[in-house]
Amino acid sequence: MKSTENDKFVEILLADVLEVYGYDFTGYSRASLKRRMIRLYELDGFVSFAEFRYRIRTDSGYFKRFMEQITINVTEMFRDPEFFQTLRKDILPRLGTYPFIRIWIAGCSTGEEAYSVAIFLKELNLLHKSLIYATDINPTVLETAAQAIIPMSKIKMYTENYIEAGGSEQFSEYYTANYSLGKLKDDLKSNIIFSTHNLVSDNSFNEFQLIMCRNVLIYFDRPLQSKVFNLFDSSLEKFGYLALGTKETLDFSSVSKNFERHTTGKIWRKTQ
Ligand SMILES: C[S@@+](CC[C@H](N)C(=O)[O-])C[C@H]1O[C@@H](n2cnc3c(N)ncnc32)[C@H](O)[C@@H]1O
Repeated sequence: MKSTENDKFVEILLADVLEVYGYDFTGYSRASLKRRMIRLYELDGFVSFAEFRYRIRTDSGYFKRFMEQITINVTEMFRDPEFFQTLRKDILPRLGTYPFIRIWIAGCSTGEEAYSVAIFLKELNLLHKSLIYATDINPTVLETAAQAIIPMSKIKMYTENYIEAGGSEQFSEYYTANYSLGKLKDDLKSNIIFSTHNLVSDNSFNEFQLIMCRNVLIYFDRPLQSKVFNLFDSSLEKFGYLALGTKETLDFSSVSKNFERHTTGKIWRKTQ
């Protein structure tokens, strides 16, 4: 198939998905969308675009799979340990001066980021007065997140990340191992609310002192990024923090004037 043909098919599928399921992916960057759609098409052995299109439009079970491929769900605990080190040493202790801490983790995938934050809040004796709203567009990843299960095959990496990020306990204290799976301790979950929220179409739902949205906006085009930055700006308290992924920046957005960059990492503080 010619590339221009593929481009056309991508647009048709995006229009279908919006019309049939109400999800608007038209502001996602095309290169990645195209790659992932072609991959799925080939992986599932479709023989024509018409067949692929028909399946997506008519089979909601298959749409779930489509959605999983389009919204990349890769994550890990204490991802980018340097970022978590700044969070632990600097940002969370400052938030600790508030009587109550509200954190929004947007695009939380299967919850590893939320549990990592909960662990550090606990170590700083702040978990009891914190509420973490962990949201994602994809309900399937949220079901996994609520189970608080991590594969034991990842424990070595997570332990290393945890130590590098400045964790003060034994990481093994936070889970119980059962053959190939580890179950995170229940108290970590008690202050996390997992819920669906679509950054493209849903509104602000609270005022936060910290919003983390890491490795999500990288898949959005500039206008959509701008829209989401506006949403974050209106969802942050004055002096609240916004944390982005290593390849993301607030610099080109119209709300950047309301923020100042923190000395380390991709963290901005709202100053007005
Ligand atoms: C690569 S993961 C990042 C997970 C985690 N934040 C991290 O950095 O490890 C991107 C997540 O963003 C979610 N996502 C994509 N589009 C979204 C949208 N419009 N609204 C909310 N979440 C979205 C995906 O479902 C996926 O779970």
